[in-house]
Amino acid sequence: MYELLTMWKVKEAEFPHHGTVEEKLKFILNYAILAPSSHNTQPWLFKIDSEEIYLYADRSRGLSIADPEGRELVISCGTALFNLRIALHHFGYTGKIITFPNPANSELLACIKLGYRIKESTDNNLLFNAIPKRHTNRQNYQWWDAPQSLLRWLQSDAELEGAWLHIVKNNHIRHQIAELIVRAEHQLMADPNYRQELANWIRPANNSNHDGIPGYAQGINKHLDFATPLFTTVLRTFDLGNSVAERSRKLVEQSPAIVVLGTQNDTQSDWLNAGQALERILLRSQAVGLNCSFLNQPVQLPQSRSELSKVLSQSGFPQLILRLGFCKQVKPTPRRTVEEVLI
Ligand SMILES: Cc1cc2nc3c(=O)[nH]c(=O)nc-3n(C[C@H](O)[C@H](O)[C@H](O)COP(=O)(O)O)c2cc1C
Repeated sequence: MYELLTMWKVKEAEFPHHGTVEEKLKFILNYAILAPSSHNTQPWLFKIDSEEIYLYADRSRGLSIADPEGRELVISCGTALFNLRIALHHFGYTGKIITFPNPANSELLACIKLGYRIKESTDNNLLFNAIPKRHTNRQNYQWWDAPQSLLRWLQSDAELEGAWLHIVKNNHIRHQIAELIVRAEHQLMADPNYRQELANWIRPANNSNHDGIPGYAQGINKHLDFATPLFTTVLRTFDLGNSVAERSRKLVEQSPAIVVLGTQNDTQSDWLNAGQALERILLRSQAVGLNCSFLNQPVQLPQSRSELSKVLSQSGFPQLILRLGFCKQVKPTPRRTVEEVLI
């Protein structure tokens, strides 16, 4: 029987060193599926064709209200691609990756081969070990400073993947971002279709689809998991904008670090880069004990997204807003099995 957290217990000792290329590629997918995705939609599909993996965007899992262009969907696929790359290196392969190999097919995001043999670097090993430990952590964080040197490290991580990371240093800017989040949250939560879509992806922990955000990840006590459907009914029916927005304001104002991940342009290719940058940042943070969560509401609305750019005085396109800090670890969320995401 499927057990909620089985996917997170992947054993690297089971890598088929003496198996076929196909078996090796299939094993590596165990790490790709642990990647984060908006609302835990896991909008990816993979096809293994003897010597290569094709990564497809699964648009049927898109969020038509919160993400009509599929921007967050492609970012999510980018996080899975990054895990694939790190796992390939870990098991001794350079990986040979071609993104958007067929411009006529926008669903096909990447084609991945094993590549040549290499010895894994210490840094890659650090990121690899963080894959099964990384979880979005929505709790309040301790008010300990996130060291600037660490944040600068995350900044170079983003640049390595063709993205930028803006570290919000100034309290005035932090306050302006908090205001943008509050306004965007109000606007989004006032839309019944947005609430409906969000509620559709909040699920009891042991749901048979193996996806969505379980109540406990949203702060619902695990003993009240049975009441998740009641919570989603309330969410669908009432505009909870005020309380949700006020909680977000506190999170921004009280988190040790707020950072904005962005790209110079806003194409599918930039989104895929943003996803890889995001996962590099999340794994690095996990490796050094920093927790992360998202406050993306202003980026989901065109008007507030451009206001955010102005507030940051940063050229390019903000893709995600993250808060970082220290606190105790949280439980993993469900994942579909490799079989479920294979075409
Ligand atoms: C592109 C992207 C956007 C996300 N946006 C939000 C968000 O706005 N709010 C939030 O609480 N979590 C957000 N998340 C986190 C997902 O909900 C989370 O990754 C998913 O539920 C799986 O849980 P895990 O990260 O703990 O594995 C986002 C993740 C990604 C990759």
